[in-house]
Amino acid sequence: QKTGDIAALLLDRYDRHARDLPWRKRPGHGAPDPYHVWLSEIMLQQTTVAAVIPYFHIFTQRWPDFTALAACDDADVMAAWAGLGYYARARNLLRCARAVVQDHGGMLPDQEKALLSLPGIGPYTAAAIAAIAFDRRAVVVDANIERVASRLFAIATPLPRAKPDIYQRVDTITPAQRPGDFAQAMMDLGAGICSVKAPSCPICPLQHHCMAWQAGNPEAYPVKPAK
Ligand code: ADE
Ligand code: SF4
Repeated sequence: QKTGDIAALLLDRYDRHARDLPWRKRPGHGAPDPYHVWLSEIMLQQTTVAAVIPYFHIFTQRWPDFTALAACDDADVMAAWAGLGYYARARNLLRCARAVVQDHGGMLPDQEKALLSLPGIGPYTAAAIAAIAFDRRAVVVDANIERVASRLFAIATPLPRAKPDIYQRVDTITPAQRPGDFAQAMMDLGAGICSVKAPSCPICPLQHHCMAWQAGNPEAYPVKPAK
């Protein structure tokens, strides 16, 4: 079993079953808009996909790019953000848009390290944007990906101590080609088939690679810390 097979199987499923989310590139339409990827990743930091979608449409219609957002009144963004919660995100959203306009000519930088220096962008978000918006090979680990990887490799160490091991495992299966689609395919698998409770292993494209499924105890992963 080669780890490269995992990426190929996931990308094949993604090509046929990717969720149609408004910030993703549409099939045949090339790369997604980095502004859309950035906005969606900030909104998704503490909010579900279903709750984010209407806000994403409102923001992109009203402020279609970094320049428009950077020029608006703070109070307008705070009002439009109302209901999403975690309002520090909205303040950082504006600070980031203004930094992109002032320091980067209105274009989001395409390197993880430069992204990390912008307001509101931490290690997860920098990796996600680099991979999804720019197809840079970056190791993307959110809660869904953490669960999928800990099951695939039956990682017995409890969280949060398992995090470095999980990161390293995700690194080994992240492909050089299409790393952004790979990350989103992992997210989709975790949001659908590889659910927290009662994962649908019999229809999972990774079942033949999955140590937890082979051992018969996928729900045991990720291992939670002893209380
Ligand atoms: N959560 C964070 N980023 C996401 C994405 N690009 N697609 C689906 N869920 C996500
Ligand atoms: Fe998750 Fe089951 Fe697929 Fe393993 S086989 S990755 S536990 S859904």
